[in-house]
This record gives sequence, structure tokens and C-alpha cells, in this order.
Amino acid sequence: MGIARVGVVGCGLMGSGIAQTAAQVGFEVTVREINEDLLQRGLDSIRRNLQRQVEKGSLSQEQLEQVWNRLRGTTRLDDLTGSDLIIEAITEQLAAKKELFTALHRICPPETIFASNTSSLSITEMAVASGRPERFVGLHFFNPVPVMKLVEVVRTLLTDAGVYEEAVDFARRLGKTPVRTGDRTGFIVNRLLVPYLLDAIRALEEGVASIEDIDHSMRLGCGYPMGPFTLLDFVGLDTTYYIAQVMFEEFREKRFAPPPLLKRMVLAGWHGRKTGRGFYDYSDPKNPRPSPLNF
Ligand code: 3HC
Repeated sequence: MGIARVGVVGCGLMGSGIAQTAAQVGFEVTVREINEDLLQRGLDSIRRNLQRQVEKGSLSQEQLEQVWNRLRGTTRLDDLTGSDLIIEAITEQLAAKKELFTALHRICPPETIFASNTSSLSITEMAVASGRPERFVGLHFFNPVPVMKLVEVVRTLLTDAGVYEEAVDFARRLGKTPVRTGDRTGFIVNRLLVPYLLDAIRALEEGVASIEDIDHSMRLGCGYPMGPFTLLDFVGLDTTYYIAQVMFEEFREKRFAPPPLLKRMVLAGWHGRKTGRGFYDYSDPKNPRPSPLNF
């Protein structure tokens, strides 16, 4: 029958982006948050994004209303039981994710496909905990989801081949380019991206160049849309630190080890754009200044 109705668990940065993208290409979407306040914040950010597209002329007001009508917000897990595919995008805590999938397994029909948007946790471990490992995949999206064209589609030893192809096809129907990969921490992108970001921090620690000059180098010398420090602040220093730790734990290779400066900045509460300070200071958001780092 194929996937027509999509459930998304979590309406934060990634969940709201996934829900918006799915609704924009025609899926019926139900997005669930744990309370009304978080749900409203997520839905407001989707509405703002769509409104911006109307202002730019890439979406008509009528299309906006159609997308909006395909989106339903809820705080009840039970409202997801009519979904053909449920994508989890909650906090990166394995215990919370396993608990969620166990609960979903109890209330959903056996054919519902489950997916996790995790960037670093084990898909296999969640798949087994879900009680339906053959109908479980990873669907790893990139921030900002409505813009970034890639989806890593992750299979485990236990994923049914037909289910995997449905997931690949779903990513294509979202207008994304799916890439196929297995359940190895970091998949493809973070396997390459994380050591690069950590190396930029090491270069700064060693006094190779300033924050701005390292950023300029990769933007202007290599054509990257953001330099490594702008990207670190964008992804979140806490998130990067967490992913690096999980990858180091898995591979025990130095290139994944978080540098001391990253750890200190996370401990200091400098998590990047979302906290107003990371490698840059965003007190004037339109004109970020490099943070003075006396380490
Ligand atoms: N949500 C929705 N749309 C957004 C957006 C957001 N947060 N930010 C920007 N956009 C849209 C803009 O509206 C604009 O749309 P238009 O082309 O229809 O006008 C388009 O994106 C381009 O935006 P801007 O012109 O404002 O700015 P840029 O050209 O600088 O693009 C960017 C912004 C797309 C964020 C670009 O800088 C970029 O590609 N940066 C790199 C992002 C990246 O590497 N992401 C991956 C992070 S790693 C990850 O997510 C994995 C995880 O596991 C860590």
C-alpha cells in the first residue's frame, strides 16, 4: 500500500523540519510533543518557515493552508497509531528512545514501520528494543531539514529488505537524495564531518590561526557554505561533544576524541547559537563576533 500517513515524535529543530517537509510534499502528518508548550513552539516555527516561503514567493498562501491542513499536532502517543511510518526525533538518549519504541510497538499495528533520526546512537539496539526489528530503519536528516537534500537511510542486520527499500523510496518522495548505509556510529556524514570539526578546534588550540581566519579558509578556499566554527555553533557544541564521545567510545580512535577546549566550552554553557555564545558571540545576531577564548 505504501506510506501515506507519517507520524513524527518530537517537534524540536529536527522533528519540526521533518514534519514540515513531509506535509509539504503531500503526506498526512501527525507530530507529537510531550507537552502543549513545546508542541506550540514547534508548530509556530513550522508556520513561520512556511510564511517566509510565501513572502519569498516560493509558496502561495493557498498552498500554505493546504500544507497546514495536512499537519496535526498532538501530545498523545495514541494519535500516532494510524501512521504507516513513525519517525522518532526526540532527545539523543538511548534509554528514552528505547522506552518510546517499546510503547509505540504496544499500540501500533504490526505493519507500521519505525525509524529513528538519531545521529550517533545504535539503530540495532533501538530496533531490538522496539520488538519489530525487521520493520526498523534509521532515517538521518540534516539541519535545516527543509533545505538539506540528504537523508542517510540506515539498515541493520535485522532490517527486512522490502522495508528498507520503502524507506529509501520515502526519502525520495520527500524530495531528498537518499544514501544507503549500515548501522555504524556516525554513518557516512558524521564519520567524515566530526573529525574535521574536531581538527578545526585542535588547530585553534595550537594557535594555527584565529577563529575567523580558519572559517574564512574553509569557506573561501574550499567553497564550504559555513566555516567549521560557524558550523559548530550551528549544530551545537553540546551536540558535537556528545556525538564525538559516542564515536570515540565505538571506534577508540583519536580522531573522534573531543578536544579539551570543546569540553570546557560545553561545561561553561557555551553551546553555540542556541545559547547566544559558542565560538562566536551572538549578542548582536546579525553581526556575530568571535568569542574571546582565554584558555
Ligand atoms: N529552516 C528553513 N529554511 C532555512 C533555514 C532554516 N533554519 N535556514 C535557511 N533556510 C533557507 C532560506 O530560507 C533560503 O531559502 P530560499 O533559497 O528559498 O530563499 C535558503 O535556506 C538559503 O538560506 P540563506 O540565503 O538565508 O542562507 P545561506 O545561503 O547561507 O544558507 C544554509 C543557509 C542552508 C544553512 C547554509 O549555510 C548551509 O548549507 N550550511 C551548512 C549546513 C550544514 O552543514 N548542515 C548539516 C549539519 S550536520 C547535521 O545536521 C548532522 C547532525 O547529526 C549533526
